[in-house]
Order: sequence, then structure tokens, then C-alpha cells
Amino acid sequence: MQSRLFLTAVLCAAFAAAAAPTLSQQAPTPGASPMYAHHWPKPTNLKVLPKDTSPEQLHKIMDGIADSLGVHCSFCHVMNEQTHHMDFASDAKPDKNMARIMMRMMQAINTQYLPQIHDPDAMPEDKHVTCGTCHQGHQMPPHFVPPPEHHGPPMANMPRPGL
Ligand code: HEC
Ligand code: HEC
Repeated sequence: MQSRLFLTAVLCAAFAAAAAPTLSQQAPTPGASPMYAHHWPKPTNLKVLPKDTSPEQLHKIMDGIADSLGVHCSFCHVMNEQTHHMDFASDAKPDKNMARIMMRMMQAINTQYLPQIHDPDAMPEDKHVTCGTCHQGHQMPPHFVPPPEHHGPPMANMPRPGL
């Protein structure tokens, strides 16, 4: 139970950080507010997030994911053609399952690897990655392009690596 609560806290912090940096400092609030409870029924098909994730926590997490990738909910979730409502529990869209793998990858980075780094310079927000760390508001993480090499005077005096 302890570790699951911890995991929820880590995940909420990591996901919510993208949407609203201040949310990451707050502990998750147990129970849903009446406002969210109306729009967000209890989740029925969670395979990565703890099953008891409250609708309110889920709201923050999903908003964070959508913002991190610069997409709408329908990028991962399908509409029920009969009811014309979103069927959030459905796994029909492959992107939803890709997102689950990404969530597991992020959990591993945040719970297994980053805690091994004891860097005194790190700020609290450096202690976890979010979807946004890599995705930067894009469906696919943008490719890093190194800045053009600098050939100004200070560099010219530097010893050149052997060619
Ligand atoms: C990049 C993909 C992605 C986007 C975008 C996304 N979601 Fe999700 N959503 C998921 C995944 C993955 C799960 C299941 C998590 C799990 O298995 O623990 C999920 C689960 C849910 C659930 C719980 C469904 C259930 O009953 O189990 C709700 C509700 C939900 N999302 C709402 C939203 C809303 C609202 C948005 C838009 C703000 C949104 N999602 C955007 C991937 C996404
Ligand atoms: C460590 C960097 C990193 C993090 C953190 C990360 N991603 Fe990704 N993501 C990638 C890379 C790289 C790809 C491309 C993989 C491929 O296509 O083979 C990708 C691809 C995806 C795709 C497929 C996009 C498409 O258009 O096909 C989805 C969906 C996705 N990520 C969702 C997420 C979500 C949701 C999170 C947070 C839970 C997340 N990612 C966190 C690096 C990351």
C-alpha cells in the first residue's frame, strides 16, 4: 500500500508537472471533488496507474499527458458511435497502449534510475522526468539538432582533438 501510494504520488507529480508546475508540489488529494466526480466516473480499465487512482488525480494526469504531447484526448481515446460520448475505458486506439508502455518506461526512469543520482545541484523538478521532458509538446519527441560549431577566437586557441 505504501509503495503504491508513493507510485501514485510520483506519477501525479511527473504527469501534472507538465500541465501546472505547482501541482507537482502538492500531495494527491484522496477522493474526487464533486465537480470532477460528475464528469469523471471511477476508472474501470487502469493497467499501469494504481486501480484506486481517483477521478481527480486521473484528470490531472490526463491533462498533463495531452499537454505534453500537444494532442487532444481523442489522440488516444475513441468516441462511442452509439452514445456519441468518449469511451475512455476502451483500448481500441493503438496510441493508448503505446502511452502505457511510455508510462512504464517513465516509472522505471523515475523510480529505479533517477533516485541513484545524488546530485546536490538538482532542483526537486530535476528528480523526475515527465512526458514533456522528451515530447516537448509534440506527438513525437523533436530531434535534437546540435548548434552549429563555433569557430570564434576563444575556440581557435583551444587544443584541437586529433583529426
Ligand atoms: C497519449 C495518450 C493519451 C491521451 C492524449 C489521453 N489519455 Fe486518457 N488514458 C491513456 C491511457 C494509457 C490510459 C490508461 C492508463 C492505465 O492503463 O493505467 C488512460 C485512461 C483514461 C481514463 C480512465 C478510463 C478507464 O475507465 O479506465 C480516462 C477517464 C481518461 N484517460 C481520460 C482522458 C482525457 C479526458 C483526456 C484528454 C484531456 C485523455 N485521457 C488524454 C492515454 C491517454
Ligand atoms: C525518455 C523520453 C520519453 C519520455 C519520458 C516519454 N516518451 Fe513517448 N516517445 C519517446 C520516443 C523516443 C518515441 C518514439 C518511439 C518510436 O516511435 O519508436 C515516443 C513515442 C510516443 C508515442 C507514439 C507517438 C506517435 O505519434 O506514434 C506516444 C503516444 C507517446 N510517446 C506517449 C508518451 C507519454 C504519454 C509519455 C509520458 C507517460 C511519454 N511518451 C514519455 C520518448 C519519450
